[in-house]
Amino acid sequence: MNEFREITSEPPNSEETIYGPALPQMKAVMDELADRVARIGSQLKAELGMDPIEHCVMRIKSDESMREKCRRRGLPETADSALNRIHDAIGLRIVAAFVSDVYRIRDCIAAFGDCEVIDEKDYIRHAKPNGYRSLHLILRYQGAWYVEIQLRTISMDTWAALEHHMRYKKNISGNAQLIEAELKRCADELASTDLSMQTIRDMILDS
Ligand code: GTP
Ligand code: MG
Repeated sequence: MNEFREITSEPPNSEETIYGPALPQMKAVMDELADRVARIGSQLKAELGMDPIEHCVMRIKSDESMREKCRRRGLPETADSALNRIHDAIGLRIVAAFVSDVYRIRDCIAAFGDCEVIDEKDYIRHAKPNGYRSLHLILRYQGAWYVEIQLRTISMDTWAALEHHMRYKKNISGNAQLIEAELKRCADELASTDLSMQTIRDMILDS
């Protein structure tokens, strides 16, 4: 794997957070899963001749966003809500080179005895109307922790970053519709390019 980092610059680290005393264990879970992901990368490298994992980022959802999500869902702002009712307090995003790698990595994760996939949303086969593509898994790890895993290709990741940026950018109301239509067009073009790249990779692997 080429790159590995935490995406929150200031991870919550005090017992004052909604997570209470669970926070150190949550970080440990995140690190354990990150190690697993790195091992999946090495294992697939042995099979494919290249490590398909471009990078992996991870985060504990910030105290503020978790509280906001509890309120949005009508849940009390408690550790129980954050850890058991909401399932993305711990999140990993794995970015892979090709679409087939996304599904390979998914299968490796699902094969771990202590990782139960309790929910799966395939926004690659069924893209969101705005063009968003990714494979989302909710894991139940060691029977105790919920973890959201997002898997996507490099081009899906680039698109999602741009779309996220535009969503939080103010004063675009004048041409928001045009921007949305253009983003959707880009998402579809990128998906088509991902397929072509996949075909080229398959030809290289077969030759
Ligand atoms: P949340 O309340 O946001 O967790 O929604 P949800 O439980 O319906 O989950 P969903 O699978 O829609 O999205 C979960 C996460 O996927 C989000 O927090 C984002 O990180 C990512 N995501 C989903 N949709 C989009 C999108 O349209 N654009 C971008 N950039 N990211 C998205
Ligand atoms: Mg979610």
